[in-house]
Amino acid sequence: MTHVFHRQTKAVPPTAKRGDGVYVVDAAGKRYLDASGGAAVSCLGHSDVRVINAVKTQLDAIPYAHTGFFTNQPMEQLADFLVESAPGNLDMVYFVSGGSEGVEAALKMARQYYLEIGQPKRHRIIARRQSYHGNTLGALAIGGNEWRREQFHPMLIDATHVAPCYEYRDRRDDETVEEYGIRAADELDAAIRAAGPETVAAFVCEPVVGATAGAVPAVPGYLKRIREICDRHGVLLIFDEVMCGMGRTGHLFACQEDGVTPDLLVIAKGLGAGYQPIGAVLLDGRIYAAIRDGSGFFQHGHTYMGHPAACAAGLAVQKVIQEDNLLGNVRTQGAALRQALDTRFGNNPYVGDIRGRGLFLGLELVADRSTKEPLDPARKVNVAIKREAMARGLMVYPMGGTIDGRRGDHILVAPPFIINQSHITEIVEKLGDAIDAVLPA
Ligand SMILES: Cc1ncc(COP(=O)(O)O)c(C=O)c1O
Repeated sequence: MTHVFHRQTKAVPPTAKRGDGVYVVDAAGKRYLDASGGAAVSCLGHSDVRVINAVKTQLDAIPYAHTGFFTNQPMEQLADFLVESAPGNLDMVYFVSGGSEGVEAALKMARQYYLEIGQPKRHRIIARRQSYHGNTLGALAIGGNEWRREQFHPMLIDATHVAPCYEYRDRRDDETVEEYGIRAADELDAAIRAAGPETVAAFVCEPVVGATAGAVPAVPGYLKRIREICDRHGVLLIFDEVMCGMGRTGHLFACQEDGVTPDLLVIAKGLGAGYQPIGAVLLDGRIYAAIRDGSGFFQHGHTYMGHPAACAAGLAVQKVIQEDNLLGNVRTQGAALRQALDTRFGNNPYVGDIRGRGLFLGLELVADRSTKEPLDPARKVNVAIKREAMARGLMVYPMGGTIDGRRGDHILVAPPFIINQSHITEIVEKLGDAIDAVLPA
């Protein structure tokens, strides 16, 4: 008997009792290798004492002080760190408690910026199909995940959706990767022109698409073209790096690999690594200056923004990543995991594509590799693989609706940055067994 409104109402999941490095241990003592960091959150595993102690120390000093009255040291220090590490002119940081809150704040910042600089018609948001930006109504409206949006349609603000950058399915045989990237990006240009550029406030995308499509990176040149198009039309560029950011791809900010800097950049998940809930929006200095020199305040705010214990966790997480050179580990272990997945699944008739960057990898499942025909959605293969993996003590993040919100299945693998070769062996072995149990070759 439970009084908790769980995510699934038909079954109560096992109780997570304690963490041990990359493992979660349940109340019965069963160990689960967390190869998805939950939902790409737990980048340091579940028992880093340096982060735990930093949170305890902050709680002893002061657990909470409302940001309408006070600033606090961990918040200031974390902002300094993020700005020093961020590309371009991302000079200021607005703290929130998670990804959806970050996306909502970024959308409202974009709108307020245009009011401050005397372009009040700019309000439209353009985003991409097959993306996810959060479950609050604003973030859900701009997200392109049909499965999540469907029942709330009448409540969602109007947003325009253009094509994702999804090479495996959308590149034509007669075009190079670069040509495809330009064609995909140019859909944005057409959408801005159709909407009337003077009405468009921002374009939002995930540089590497996470849970909705399964670790799909932009092809080379795509994001550069997107940046040019936004600049041409005076549209702000917002990157949602809630899932792909904070080191997951081997770079602290995923967009650094593409050499493209947005005007607003949203982070969460790995920022607090699950030790505390925290998110943030990094913004270009000119957006901040317009608000500072205009109305002087941002018409927004949440009770727990800049929470001292959350910021202390975020700061400690970043120190650990630096001290232990974990971005290097993401790159080397990411390459090793990719290699192991290629070896194990390269000839599997149901694995159509293996992709991603760093420790952010995806496997797309198909019924037929040559035609890329997806599996019948009614089979709910992704649900069965999650169940089989959990039974074997492995957490991965399978999802359906990869192609259009209804068809397609993929598995996201996003283990903690601290994994070693023996963890990789265990992940690939258990994942292979789970897939074989559902889809015997
Ligand atoms: C890319 C992206 N944006 C936003 C969110 C929403 O974050 P949260 O669940 O912390 O509100 C998520 C969560 O999965 C995400 O993956």
